[in-house]
Amino acid sequence: MTGPIGVFDSGYGGLTVLKEITAKLPQYDFIYLGDNARAPYGTRSFETIYHYTLACVSQLFEMGCPLVIIACNTSSARALRTIQQKDLPKLFPDKRVLGIIRPTAEIIADYTKTNTVGILGTNGTIASESYVLEINRFHPHINVIQHACPMWVPLIENNTYLNEGAKYFIQQDIQALLKKSDQIDTILLACTHYPLLMPIIRELTPKHINILPQGPIVAESLLDYLNRHPEMESHCVKNTHIEFYTTDDVENFNQHATVFYGQAIQSKHLEIKSL
Ligand code: DGL
Repeated sequence: MTGPIGVFDSGYGGLTVLKEITAKLPQYDFIYLGDNARAPYGTRSFETIYHYTLACVSQLFEMGCPLVIIACNTSSARALRTIQQKDLPKLFPDKRVLGIIRPTAEIIADYTKTNTVGILGTNGTIASESYVLEINRFHPHINVIQHACPMWVPLIENNTYLNEGAKYFIQQDIQALLKKSDQIDTILLACTHYPLLMPIIRELTPKHINILPQGPIVAESLLDYLNRHPEMESHCVKNTHIEFYTTDDVENFNQHATVFYGQAIQSKHLEIKSL
């Protein structure tokens, strides 16, 4: 059976990834699902993030997606491995789910000269240590310095990230990260919401430090995956059709989503069945 590629995030953040994916792979059909009703995930427990993620990924499979990209670091860190190893073989043995941590970890060495990388993410992502483990698996010589920014996603989801109060929190977090090592020359935005803060982060970060969003990296890695897996690629429909779903209010989603996606969006409401 053929179907669209599913792209999932707890809310709006995955749209920054979908935007890059559709620029690179415009021929495919996509379904985007934002679980806005239950976002943010980043401050929730391991168990909760796993259950929410599994329910959303299962929903996308039931809607016909042969392949789902978890465009959320928190879900990739907390739920991806269990879904791939335990749930998928039982529930959807012919389907595939990919995360966004491994592709980012694989290529991070290309960006750092000091071999010292800063990671900014949600509590869930940072506490999981997934980036430390994955980066050091590919590049044992890289020093990975992490810092959690629990306020950033709520500021973005609530559309309050442009005021002076927000800037204060953002500055505090960047300084806290940089205080941990003066060798950091690359900061990875390890949360798909954070590219929206790029102009503010850039302004508050010394010029010699690279700031890396994930969208282009994930898009390149999906292209590579589809080239290497023709059996999966042949199940992905190519009609350039994109549908957007949110678990919360449609009007609100349409309004906010434009900023993340860069163009107007007409979404539909989706109720997620609990498993
Ligand atoms: N965009 C998600 C990520 O990449 C985080 C969102 C959340 O906390 O819900 O981690």
